[in-house]
Amino acid sequence: MLNKATKIFKINEKNPEEGLIEEAADIIKKGGLLAFPTETVYGLGGDARDPQVSKKIYSAKGRPSDNPLIVHISNMEMLEKIVDEVPKEALVLAKAFWPGPLTFILKKSDYIPKETTGGLDTVAVRMPSRLSARLIIDKCGIPVAAPSANISGRPSPTKAEHVIEDFDGRIDGIVDDGPSPIGLESTILDLTVNPPAILRKGYIEKQDIDRVLGVSVVEGGGETVEKPKAPGMKYRHYAPKAELTIIETKDSVGKISELLENVKNKNVAVVTTEENKDKYPCRTYIAGSRKNGREIMSAIYGILRDLDSDGIEVAFSEGFSDVDHGSAIMERLIKAAGHRIIRDDS
Ligand code: TXA
Ligand code: MG
Repeated sequence: MLNKATKIFKINEKNPEEGLIEEAADIIKKGGLLAFPTETVYGLGGDARDPQVSKKIYSAKGRPSDNPLIVHISNMEMLEKIVDEVPKEALVLAKAFWPGPLTFILKKSDYIPKETTGGLDTVAVRMPSRLSARLIIDKCGIPVAAPSANISGRPSPTKAEHVIEDFDGRIDGIVDDGPSPIGLESTILDLTVNPPAILRKGYIEKQDIDRVLGVSVVEGGGETVEKPKAPGMKYRHYAPKAELTIIETKDSVGKISELLENVKNKNVAVVTTEENKDKYPCRTYIAGSRKNGREIMSAIYGILRDLDSDGIEVAFSEGFSDVDHGSAIMERLIKAAGHRIIRDDS
């Protein structure tokens, strides 16, 4: 720690104050830990070249050190340093989607130590689009390792308040310029395999990538139980303290209402949508409208955290498979529910 107290930098999202950006970037330059917003979720950033810094990140998060970090860059020159060779696919996809919520897995160069990549000889890299993030990385002039800024196992933070909850007094600084608009972590695409494989779903979807690459990429590559390709996917994730069950049946409202009968003496809640919000006789959390999957995507992690802060013991969530971006949302929600999901065929 450089400071005893965590310094909070309140920054104007549209017009970030140069002095504050400089001061914040200085923390990373000096080997400290700085949480900052990206368009997906808040990241916990540090110098990606320094093995000691990576160790600090793992230890602050309580994260197993075989679970590699994503390296964030602000220009293509940084990419060229991180990898020995930039494959053609990476250039084409970067042109289409960077800066933005897409992470590539590539063969790393010696510039990035194995401590940062969880011992792997590949590296995850992305160029975030959030203005403050880009300015901070630019000011640092070095690639910034930044996993999501949550204690390992907790839902990723979509607001500075979430980061404060997990890290106040434990890291050097937190940049706050408001909520992360996307609200789910980036899509991870493994470009070391042929055809490329999506290891984690996100805002950028298979059909977007297929269209740009002109090939059909593999989906679901990150979930192999034996040896997960994205090591992070094997860990318990995003889980609230409440026992959460997802109900995705023809009559989800009816099924949830029936299940509520069995837990009358518990502090219960239902995660629902605008369409169904008045149909349950208990506390509800409204993720958004079924007509607007983006809204649900950006709300879901905040709701998982609210279940905790409100002391909810048992929660039921409607399923979101049929909304826009539903597949990425469900990938996270199913983990949060410890795979407790009731479907018509289950
Ligand atoms: O949107 C995001 O990607 C956010 C923001 C802050 O940029 N970051 C993020 O990082 O979600 P993190 O560390 O929470 O998730 C990184 C995921 C993990 O599941 C990890 O196992 C995987 O990426 N990963 C990192 N490097 C990898 C590699 N070389 N090979 C395979 N998977 C990798
Ligand atoms: Mg994470």
